[in-house]
Amino acid sequence: MTPSPLKGRSCLLMADLSTPEIRYLLDLAKEVKLQKRQGLVTQRFQGKTLAMIFEKPSTRTRAAFETAFAEEGGHPVFLSKDDIQLGYKESVEDTARVLGRMFDAIMFRGFQQTTVELLARWSGVPVYNGLTDMAHPTQVLADLLTLEEAWGGSLKGRKLVYCGDGRNNMSHTLMVGAARMGMKFVIAAPEPLFPSEDDVEFCRQIAAEEGTELIITSDMQAAIEGADAIYTDVWASMGEETLLHLRKQILKPYQVNQQVMVSSGNPACVFLHCLPAVKGDEVTEEVFEGPQSRVWDQAENRKHTAKALMLATLL
Ligand code: CP
Ligand code: NVA
Repeated sequence: MTPSPLKGRSCLLMADLSTPEIRYLLDLAKEVKLQKRQGLVTQRFQGKTLAMIFEKPSTRTRAAFETAFAEEGGHPVFLSKDDIQLGYKESVEDTARVLGRMFDAIMFRGFQQTTVELLARWSGVPVYNGLTDMAHPTQVLADLLTLEEAWGGSLKGRKLVYCGDGRNNMSHTLMVGAARMGMKFVIAAPEPLFPSEDDVEFCRQIAAEEGTELIITSDMQAAIEGADAIYTDVWASMGEETLLHLRKQILKPYQVNQQVMVSSGNPACVFLHCLPAVKGDEVTEEVFEGPQSRVWDQAENRKHTAKALMLATLL
């Protein structure tokens, strides 16, 4: 492990990470993935503890952080919203100060971005955003690793197309991650679900610095032409379930089906989904289970990238 530029840091937003820092994390993730494959047992978190706070349910994020931390000899502690008083009986600031005295790091999954920001400010230990309504940076690290593996090399200059809800946590975070890594990023979404102008402007500046571009369009066919990867996510995110009926109506033209994969004109185009997926809505069973799908590599890579992030910030 080369000296980390991220020691002591939190990861709250994708924008917190510079291009060289993302590069460092992806390389470290590849290293720990190989070590795991080789059966190497390492105990780099021995004597350390990780608090894992969940306001929303999770399969991958919990499993990734918990197993990654435990495999390195650390002790992860799962704290669901029903078990602790966060935000209703005790302020976030007070909970943060208590956890900061007892744990070496905190992972948070929940609703508001301000909660994870407060945890970081008041705990004094590294805090990892395991999904908020605004961002999902630890997912995007796994997505970038998966794409590098799928393409056998650099992300720069590749075209990544995101189809669906253009204003949710995934599109927001992918937009930053793609720009940082010099990828051409296209969001295909109906206009009411376009990302905010401020977010687009922020990412366009990063994209320009990295010599690439960011396109937001409602024209699905134009968006997917020449795509190297097509990504989608659920049409109604956690906490937005009541909007699903309306979303189905406006998002139907943005479903990723076999016709869409073929229309990319690139037989090597890969399909990604952060999961969990609603098959029949944002993606068809055929694409999800098809030869272009990389969703299981992507899910596995959550663990290796989570481990890399914790190693880089804690050691
Ligand atoms: N992709 C993802 O974050 O999955 P979970 O909701 O299962 O953690
Ligand atoms: N946009 C989804 C992502 C799940 C990993 C949600 O927030 O529910």
